This record gives sequence, C-alpha cells and structure tokens, in this order.
Amino acid sequence: MKINLMITQISMLVLMIFMISSTCEAAEQPAPVLDTDGKALRAGVDYYVLPVFRGRGGGLTLDSTDEQNPCPLDVVQEQSEVDRGLPVYFKPVNPKKGVIRLETDLNVLFNASSICVQTTLWKLDVFDGKYFITTGGVEGNPGRDTISNWFKIQKYDSDYKFVYCPTVCDICRPVCGDVGIFIKDGKRRLALSDVPLKVMFKKV
Ligand SMILES: *[C@@H]1O[C@H](CO)[C@@H](O)[C@H](O)[C@H]1NC(C)=O
Repeated sequence: MKINLMITQISMLVLMIFMISSTCEAAEQPAPVLDTDGKALRAGVDYYVLPVFRGRGGGLTLDSTDEQNPCPLDVVQEQSEVDRGLPVYFKPVNPKKGVIRLETDLNVLFNASSICVQTTLWKLDVFDGKYFITTGGVEGNPGRDTISNWFKIQKYDSDYKFVYCPTVCDICRPVCGDVGIFIKDGKRRLALSDVPLKVMFKKV
C-alpha cells in the first residue's frame, strides 16, 4: 500500500514538472517566420530572399567582389529586381527544430555550387572597419569558434530583416547590427548597416 501511494505521488510530481516545463517552453517560443504564402519557414527547405521594395535590386546571390581574391564569395543583392538570386536554406542552432522562428540563431546557406572551395554558409567578416557578409562559415558547433556564422531573422514592420547578434556564446561580446546594403564598386553587398534591408521569403 505504502509503495503504491509513493508511486502515485511520484507520478503526480513527474506529471506536474512535465506540465510546468511544457507550458514554459510554449510561452517562450518566438513566432515562426512566415513565407510569402503565409506558411512557416522550415529548416533545410529552399527559399528566395527577396527585397520588399521594388526598384532597388533583386534577390540575394553570391558574387566575387575582389578580383585579386575571388574566394570566398560574398553575399550580394542582384542588381536587377527581376532576378531572384540563389535559394537559401536555414539550419537552426538546435538541429531538432524543424520550424524557423524569429530571434533564433541560424546558419544561413546558399543551395548552390561555387568555384570556391569554401562553403556557401554565411559568415560575418570585417574589411576596412566595415562588417560584410561573406561565405565560408562552418555549420553548427555553436560557441566562440563559430560566433561569426550565426544570424537571426527579426520582424520588420510586416516583413523581415536579418540581424547579426548571435547568442551562441555567453562570454562573447559580438558587434550587433542590422543587415543592409552597402554599395561598393557597383556591387550591392550585404553589410551591417543602420538601414536594414527589408526582405520576404518565397519558397522555391
Ligand atoms: C538543394 O537543391 C537541390 C537541387 O535543386 C535539391 O535537390 C536539394 O534538396 C536542395 N537542398 C537543400 C538542403 O535545400
């Protein structure tokens, strides 16, 4: 009898802990990022990243911005608004998560082959004191060694923007900023900027 009672008490306790932790998790989850059809973005699925405003460039793609050092390729915006660029896909910091949510550390990868040996995974790099988005990052392994490889998607009015402000490392003090466009030598490069690029995601 006594043991039975104890088992009942323990299972009640386990159930309570489970209920508390699951409600906490539900409350803490940021909203999913939605594509142009209103569906939640999913990990490992291809999307075009398109500008919301017309007449100021097209989708995102890879390009070399330095003839002397063509690799790794940099992330740029297509010159023409009719060009959708290359598809990207996302890998959230927790690889078990299938839905891409706001304010969550993500690896962003172009689904494309390139002439360079480096990966097509987005990476922050500094050049002449300015922070640009290039490629060649490594997937996963959140922490100090990969701090430049994590980006987040934030709500921006009724659309979205990319931000660099990783939270994969407690002791790191990364520069934080919005991702916008910096025109250099005629190329529309992605860079940290006071003027964010307003984007939407169109499923490929
Ligand atoms: C990348 O593109 C190829 C060819 O379109 C497709 O088969 C594959 O599923 C894509 N991979 C990812 C991870 O999106």
